[in-house]
Amino acid sequence: MNTIDALLTRNSSPRLTNPIPSEEQLEIAYKCALRAPDHAWIRPWKFIQVSDQGLDKLSVAFTNTAKKLDSNIDPQILEKYKNAPYRAPLVIVLVSDTKEHPKVPVIEQQLSTAAAGQNMLLAFHDMGFAGIWRTGKFSFNKEISSELDLKESEIVIGYLYIGTADGKAKKIPELKTEDFVTVWK
Ligand SMILES: Cc1cc2nc3c(=O)[nH]c(=O)nc-3n(C[C@H](O)[C@H](O)[C@H](O)COP(=O)(O)O)c2cc1C
Repeated sequence: MNTIDALLTRNSSPRLTNPIPSEEQLEIAYKCALRAPDHAWIRPWKFIQVSDQGLDKLSVAFTNTAKKLDSNIDPQILEKYKNAPYRAPLVIVLVSDTKEHPKVPVIEQQLSTAAAGQNMLLAFHDMGFAGIWRTGKFSFNKEISSELDLKESEIVIGYLYIGTADGKAKKIPELKTEDFVTVWK
């Protein structure tokens, strides 16, 4: 697939199944992630690759975090969170490891991590896989950081749920570029 085709046809899939990318394909996706724009070469990117029994660990982390965030949580909602990691056979946790820098605020470092995530989604799409980026309750808070044993400087900015698309792909919306673009010349 050429680059423009990959960009134009990427389509999030909420229903994901096996197969997942091989070790070699994962390595390619990580290499693509590491080409994200990165002001001052801070390298704020960290990825936690979760599959197989790792999904059970993530499920425990989600459940514990949900309980910490709401000690009176509805058991049905808790069950939903417990099952959340199993929505894909592979989950990649996007972690931003930021530092104080005179020219590069933390938000720029987090944006670089987001760009790395998008590079990975595109790489997986190019290799015939599918995915969806999710955030929800288990991003951007200290409770999930602690459950994932992250350092003080690290924060979860999202999750890439990855696998093979299960079912029919949704229709890609046809947006008009003029609704989004202002031209100065
Ligand atoms: C930062 C970010 C967080 C997101 N969080 C969620 C989420 O928690 N749950 C969800 O269903 N979609 C979430 N999405 C949206 C999906 O990833 C996806 O973009 C959306 O379903 C539209 O599909 P498309 O990417 O094929 O246009 C998020 C997207 C971004 C960029």
